Amino acid sequence: SRFEDTRGVSCFKAPGRVNLIGEHTDYNDGLVLPFAINRHIYFIIRKRKDKTVLLHSLNFNEVREFKINKLLGRENKWSDYIQGILWEFKKRKLSISGFEAIIYGDIPIGAGLSSSAALEIVTCYGLSAVFNLHIPELELVKLCQQAENEFVGSKCGIMDQYVSFFAKKDKALFLDTRLLKHRFVDIALREVGMLVIDTGVKRSLASSEYNKRRRECEETVKLLRNYIDNLSSLRDLTPELLEKYRSKLTQLQRKRVKHVVEENIRVENMVAALEKQDMKMAGRLLFASHFSLKNLYEVSSPELDFLVELAQKEGILGARMTGAGFGGATIHLLFKRDIPEYCKVVKKEFFNRFARNPNIFKVRTSQGVCQII
Ligand code: GLA
Repeated sequence: SRFEDTRGVSCFKAPGRVNLIGEHTDYNDGLVLPFAINRHIYFIIRKRKDKTVLLHSLNFNEVREFKINKLLGRENKWSDYIQGILWEFKKRKLSISGFEAIIYGDIPIGAGLSSSAALEIVTCYGLSAVFNLHIPELELVKLCQQAENEFVGSKCGIMDQYVSFFAKKDKALFLDTRLLKHRFVDIALREVGMLVIDTGVKRSLASSEYNKRRRECEETVKLLRNYIDNLSSLRDLTPELLEKYRSKLTQLQRKRVKHVVEENIRVENMVAALEKQDMKMAGRLLFASHFSLKNLYEVSSPELDFLVELAQKEGILGARMTGAGFGGATIHLLFKRDIPEYCKVVKKEFFNRFARNPNIFKVRTSQGVCQII
């Protein structure tokens, strides 16, 4: 096979993430609290002397080949994320030769666990290292976000790329997306475990509805600027200001904004709860976030709601959808001793309702992108 001769081969990995709380806040200059999970995308690379780029995805069992100075253009597939990075290199006049790469990942795709951000980060980090591009850390993260915004065409915020790069083991990353400053919060939980349950529903609506939510937020900011001086984003809104100007907003705008304003507060409360190891409070905040995403931001799905309502019925600490929504996965917080029994119940109930099995797995935290070989 192509890499039998391993001379000159390097290997990198970047993690997926679970967002603990702070959903749909990052493109509103708000607060988020994700952590990286022990699921990764691997990028195994060797330079070539010519201009050919050869990409081989093991997950898709597919090869793409092109010249470094002649990209294929968007094809709505995995290689778009890599092309996006190369496109951003070109814009910045970062020049590289051809290369061969194998891409493999164990992050479920389309589950809201940021396999795409991990692919961007691992590609960019790997190429930067191999070709000595010296891209500063934050620039690298922004470059990846731009690749997704512009080449791939999804107007995501910066959270996923940021955490895939900067994450630390045993920590959640408390990020202020306005300042682009973060600090770490301990989540090395002794008695409490975290389960991710992937509903298996691919987020088909995700990018169109996502971009729509973004627009709704931007339009609301524009409107409120007529009344509030210096309002630059929804981050500047407090519950009091929202109350004061609510009559200026449509019903829909009120719902969207209320979610964003309260979600930012929940992130701060979650940080406080974790620092006090108040897991009951942490759990309550997860539930509150979920129902806000369901009722106010309207990005949940029947399967996600079913799992979270089941979590409530079963009396575990907390649960909510994680990621953009419209399918994907939930995160469940519960005592470790309850995990085996809880998994059984979830399997049975989910099957009774939807006639198929969800994908349940325990997650551990992980550090950000790194070189393995
Ligand atoms: C996706 C985006 C993130 C963020 C979340 C919602 O994961 O990539 O930037 O907006 O949705 O919180």
